Amino acid sequence: MEELLFLVQNNDDIVLLITVVVFSAAITYVASKARRRLDIGEGEAAAGGGGNIPGRLGIPIIGETFSFLSATNSTNGCYDFVRLRRLWYGSCFKTRIFGKIHVFVPSPEGAKQILTNDFVDFNKGYVKSMADAVGEKSLLCVPHDSHKRIRRLLSDPFSMPSLSKFVQNFDQKLTQKLKKLEESGERFSALQFSMKMILDAMCNMLMSITEDSLLQVIERDCTAVSDAMLSFPLMIPGTRYYKGIKARQRLMETFRGMIGDRRGGKETHNDFLQSMLQRDSYPSSEKLDDTDIMDNLLTLIIAAQTTTAAAMMWSVKFLDENRDAQDRLREEQLSIAKNKLDGASLTIEDLNKMFYGLKVVKETLRMSNVLLWFPRVALNDCIIDGFEIKKGWHVNVDATCIHYDPELYKDPMQFNPSRFDEMQKPYSFIPFGSGPRTCLGMNMARVIMLVFLHRLTRGYKWTIHDHDPSLEKKTHVPRLRSGCPITLKALDDGK
Ligand code: HEM
Repeated sequence: MEELLFLVQNNDDIVLLITVVVFSAAITYVASKARRRLDIGEGEAAAGGGGNIPGRLGIPIIGETFSFLSATNSTNGCYDFVRLRRLWYGSCFKTRIFGKIHVFVPSPEGAKQILTNDFVDFNKGYVKSMADAVGEKSLLCVPHDSHKRIRRLLSDPFSMPSLSKFVQNFDQKLTQKLKKLEESGERFSALQFSMKMILDAMCNMLMSITEDSLLQVIERDCTAVSDAMLSFPLMIPGTRYYKGIKARQRLMETFRGMIGDRRGGKETHNDFLQSMLQRDSYPSSEKLDDTDIMDNLLTLIIAAQTTTAAAMMWSVKFLDENRDAQDRLREEQLSIAKNKLDGASLTIEDLNKMFYGLKVVKETLRMSNVLLWFPRVALNDCIIDGFEIKKGWHVNVDATCIHYDPELYKDPMQFNPSRFDEMQKPYSFIPFGSGPRTCLGMNMARVIMLVFLHRLTRGYKWTIHDHDPSLEKKTHVPRLRSGCPITLKALDDGK
């Protein structure tokens, strides 16, 4: 997906892209006049360009790029491109975007085949802008061997037992912030609020940063890096890429300074960074060097923030539209609160009692599809769902299609947390992916959402002030354009 999206981040990138694409297309067209077959959709099987997969490849290089760009630039969101083709061709279809053939894989069986064979038969496409922005040593970019080592060394703080301190801190901060917002009667964007909460919580957990002015700078710079991840990789002042790379340099300076202070004994903390530095004397297979640490600090902040904040925003909307679910959730949360002392923070044990809460989290993730599909490149020829896939083709695990499949989920467009009373078929619920690249932060995302749902429903009712369903343009994470503006009203019986 990155290759598709890095070109649609802003207008100047689009103009540049279109010029490049049109120019290359013209050259290719002239050079390949002999083929004389501009629309090679179904007929491309013989040329190895689409096999028996339904769909339309269009003219060389350009293919359906403009339709994709147009969907990405619309308030229906970029998944509209996929939805329409599913209607026209069926769930598994092929297309060509920016010169690459893409196949959308819509089944749990296909998802299993791709995700369990990650790094062996499939890999993530390498994207220059992404590696430049988050760093070559980021978990998102490193090759197989380093991935295994870095992932193992990063994992421990994200395991459920290690998250108890995080839960306490997050809960305290959230409780204070919500109370303040309710008392002020202020209208606020659920999305922006969640983005700020997650960034602050991640910086505190990873590096014990709590100073407001520094958090603001980090937030601004992380947003610039995040925007640059999928931008056109040319260092031209004013572009997203340029701003992102400059922001990255500033962030690396900050992280380097912190590492230096800790090594020099000026500061010690009980946090993620300290736990990494304590491994300094370990053999190289058991520790991360400074570049590994710095690139992955940045990766973790960015990977956590946009995804989890979007999911929190969607939970506010879904619960507002489904009052029965909201009431039932509130009932469960009030009964958990009843057994706690006034002012006591939530613990992992409390979260483990949120049976209905967890179903609300799952249903929110199923319906919101924060990551719409998971992009891979086939490393060998193979057959998926009975279709021939050629080496080098992009295969996208269409998580959204799986999550909306009426064969797997009855009334899939209905928000119904109780559907998770039943066990799911393998690979039919994959909001966090699966296999060696399963989301590293999935436990953290779950606890963040549970704490948020607890504090929101046990303490407040809320009113949404803009019901426009339009989505933000030019983003690959579906988010409401309005950000879901709300005001809070304290519950009389909230503790
Ligand atoms: C609701 C919130 C979240 C969702 C829906 C989500 C979803 C995902 C998915 C689907 C993947 C795999 C993508 C693929 O296979 O191509 C992934 C990877 C990843 N996520 Fe999350 N994520 C969330 C929150 C977080 C949080 C809180 C963190 C950080 C602590 C995080 C860190 C990561 C990292 C580092 C990876 C890359 C893992 C690897 O390549 O080994 N995510 N996430």
